[in-house]
Amino acid sequence: SPDSRSNPIVLVGVIGGSGLYHLDNLTLLKHVNPETPWGFPSSPIAICTLPSGTKVAFLARHGPGHTISPSTVPSRANIAALKSLGVRAILAFSAVGSLREECAPGDFVLPTQIIDRTKGIRPSSFFDGTSVVAHAGFGDPFANRLVRWLEGRVKKVLEAASEDEFAVAGVRPKTHTDKCIVCMEGPQFSTRAESKMYRQWGGDVINMSVLPEAKLAREAELGYALIATVTDYDSWRENEHPVTAAEVFKTLHANAKLSRHVAAAVLEDLNAEAAQGDLLTEEIGAMKFSIMPRS
Ligand code: ADE
Repeated sequence: SPDSRSNPIVLVGVIGGSGLYHLDNLTLLKHVNPETPWGFPSSPIAICTLPSGTKVAFLARHGPGHTISPSTVPSRANIAALKSLGVRAILAFSAVGSLREECAPGDFVLPTQIIDRTKGIRPSSFFDGTSVVAHAGFGDPFANRLVRWLEGRVKKVLEAASEDEFAVAGVRPKTHTDKCIVCMEGPQFSTRAESKMYRQWGGDVINMSVLPEAKLAREAELGYALIATVTDYDSWRENEHPVTAAEVFKTLHANAKLSRHVAAAVLEDLNAEAAQGDLLTEEIGAMKFSIMPRS
């Protein structure tokens, strides 16, 4: 696109979830709103510079005023628009419910696995409606090298965070790794029975947004990692009230400052790292051998 020629160095795209509609420490250069073959993205994309001068592209998944439900996020347009800017990897943020006692509200989770409980109503392949039959490898749904690198960075930021950033007063948030995220359709939350079933399946956290985003990033050969913030205990705890939207937004609000701090710190480091190594390129070639030959 013309934009990727005039701004060639936007290596990292950020998709902000509920509660993360803008980032700290960034200077806005301009907004772009590329029309893709799948329509316009959820929001105009903010091209911003970090204090070091490197650029990131920020997109609000649910739209600038949170008007797009998880089932209707235009994920194909979002991923295609970020790719058209020259982005190589995406850091996605999302609020999640916890299916485990140890993942407490306010904590951060970097999942490495996904269970798909969406209902098949979200367009989830760039090849739909074409004559190309493609089967992307999705056994490891996240860019694991990027995830491993992020684990260390997020831990460091949380260990150094000041008390006034904690979502729960006096409780330093933890980082959880190697977790499995269940992606449900919504918009209603799970029943108690479903919530218990997801625990038996091995789910650790739950959201409504990681799919089809992660699948489309793989088809686009972009690295994709999720930084999830726990907002609630979902509905599996026997003597506790089940999750409500009010609870989710209350924790999100309490956590907003720290989420933005984590995002800013990680992005600064990631760009420095990316300039030297190949941390952002691990998915290039991911679709090789995924397209079925015509007989
Ligand atoms: N997002 C935040 N909390 C959630 C929950 N309990 N279930 C599904 N999505 C969520």
